[in-house]
Amino acid sequence: MRLTLKIWRQAGPQDKGGFETYTVDEISEDMSFLEMLDELNEQLQDAGQEPVAFDSDCREGICGMCGLMISGQAHGPEVTTTCQLHMRSFRDGEEITVEPWRASAFPVIRDLVVDRGAFDRIIQAGGFISVDTGAAPDAAATQVPKVQADRAFDSATCIGCGACVAACPNASGMLFLGSKITHLGELPQGQAERSARVVDMVAQHDHEGFGGCTNIGECAASCPKEIPLDVISQLNKDLRVASRTRR
Ligand code: SF4
Ligand code: FES
Repeated sequence: MRLTLKIWRQAGPQDKGGFETYTVDEISEDMSFLEMLDELNEQLQDAGQEPVAFDSDCREGICGMCGLMISGQAHGPEVTTTCQLHMRSFRDGEEITVEPWRASAFPVIRDLVVDRGAFDRIIQAGGFISVDTGAAPDAAATQVPKVQADRAFDSATCIGCGACVAACPNASGMLFLGSKITHLGELPQGQAERSARVVDMVAQHDHEGFGGCTNIGECAASCPKEIPLDVISQLNKDLRVASRTRR
């Protein structure tokens, strides 16, 4: 495949940034999107130019480090992570636009790399439990109904990639936040801090500059882990209960 890439280049957080156009040849449809960018970077380095900075770690869809806006879609045209997106999803001769996540809570560090420390600070504000869960045999002694266990597990699959924020016109982090609230709130070990958790995490979310949810649903449509919108309903329920009991 031969592709034209319009890529956002930005030397640093204060730089204005802009698009640069590149051409890559001999791209196999079996390559991942990040391998295609690796090819471009080799080409740039051979020509004595600065490679494009982008984030990745596991490249297996499990760490949440990768994340690019590809032709206007978070993680590109498939429901998957950028590292698991393959070039067979594109046509020979296609022009592809590649941008970083766009949200004021995720400032650009360089090129396609953004700072997602805001998510870490939301977790620090309440995404934990303080009870002693004991050793492995103790886990079997605390029974959890299957429906709740499944819901907790499904919510725990959020990898913190930030696609939900990038896809949302309000740059809201509510799907990420709802997944954490639901994951811990469904388990007996998560009950001790349940009220404080939702209040503190929502306060941190708002303090970081994420927007509010207006039920558009782009977040769930872009989530590579298919976290459903109803985790946001759960978050709102928990917040209402917490607000009443704290009055
Ligand atoms: S909810 Fe989905 S899109 Fe949002 S951070 Fe978690 S895995 Fe990524
Ligand atoms: S690099 Fe780990 S999820 Fe993509």
